[in-house]
Amino acid sequence: MHLAHLRLRDFRNYVRLDAEFTPGFHLLLGGNAQGKTNILEAIYLLATLRSFRGVGGAQMIRHGAKGYFVGGTVVGQAAAEIKAYWSAKERKLSLNGTPVRRLADYFGTLRAVVFCTEDLQLVKGAARGRRRFLDLLLAQTQPAYLPLLLRYTQALRSRNALLKQPSVEEAQLASFTQELVTLGMQLMEARRALVPKISPLARLAFRRIAHDQDELKIDYAPSVKGDFAVALANSRPRERTYRTTLVGPHRDDLALVVNDHDAEAFTSEGQKRTLAIALKMAQAEYLTGIHGRPPVLLIDDVMGELDAHRRAGLLPLLNQARRTGGQVFMTCTEENWPQELGSELTRWQVKGGTLEKAPSSD
Ligand SMILES: Nc1ncnc2c1ncn2[C@@H]1O[C@H](COP(=O)(O)OP(=O)(O)OP(=O)(O)O)[C@@H](O)[C@H]1O
Ligand SMILES: [Mg+2]
Repeated sequence: MHLAHLRLRDFRNYVRLDAEFTPGFHLLLGGNAQGKTNILEAIYLLATLRSFRGVGGAQMIRHGAKGYFVGGTVVGQAAAEIKAYWSAKERKLSLNGTPVRRLADYFGTLRAVVFCTEDLQLVKGAARGRRRFLDLLLAQTQPAYLPLLLRYTQALRSRNALLKQPSVEEAQLASFTQELVTLGMQLMEARRALVPKISPLARLAFRRIAHDQDELKIDYAPSVKGDFAVALANSRPRERTYRTTLVGPHRDDLALVVNDHDAEAFTSEGQKRTLAIALKMAQAEYLTGIHGRPPVLLIDDVMGELDAHRRAGLLPLLNQARRTGGQVFMTCTEENWPQELGSELTRWQVKGGTLEKAPSSD
């Protein structure tokens, strides 16, 4: 699949942008603060309806404008036309001219994997980021997962609201608990099944980039080890103090282990960076395996941060995307663009919220 057309209105520093993209490799070149990352952010937004910078819609509206518009044409088995408008008052999302009612119907229209500096939080940050990583991958591969996750979140919210009441009606709590357990067990099952599939992919990617013998292992670290219903019952006394649901998949984590030690505590900065990239490569390779086609790769600054040795480890993934008709968008400042990418690429010049095709010779 590839993004054939991108249209922006009042998005970040873009007043208006209309660009056509072929499959293949696109290099977005420009100085700092010109709008390179903003383009990747817009493409990622079309794919996931979120910013990879972890901000809400308001921040993406161009200063002084009322709302942003991001639209695109995705060419896969068929062509799909996406239109997304966001303002404080109004949100609109349509697919081929029809308003999207269920997000599950929308997901999968455009699949993207982003490599960005924020990825470091997968290793250094809180469990939430790692849960998101798992959830996104499951949503990108199993149509039933996102609705399940949304229902669980809703059930959790209701149960927590009940726990906050001055006096909790036990019969009502029991019925909320039942629902939470049913949905929660399915979530945990999906996550438990996924992790062993991505762990070997991440391990290989890690070794390929790090060029050493370090062993990466990823384990599912569920909040509940045994029976969810029993764990909830056991936590009931503590719930009376904290007035919130203390155990369940909303507290799950992913354990990252390098050479049998916890990665967060025992790896260098460079290793953490490598690990974050390896996780994203695993995501991309898993998606390629499941769907038979690579996702769109969005690579922000990452190459510039790696030494030439480590960059070489990333090249096979990029070449594979190229070989299989995928699409890659990569940002670089003029000085640090990796020459080893070769000449089979489309270069774009990004300047002050404009995008122009640059001459192809180098
Ligand atoms: N909501 C907004 N409205 C207008 N301008 C914005 C908005 N949000 C960000 N910008 C501006 O967009 C510009 C480009 O941002 P972007 O992050 O895309 O730069 P970049 O080209 O990736 O730079 P760098 O090489 O430093 O990463 C910045 O100058 C920023 O101030
Ligand atoms: Mg940037």
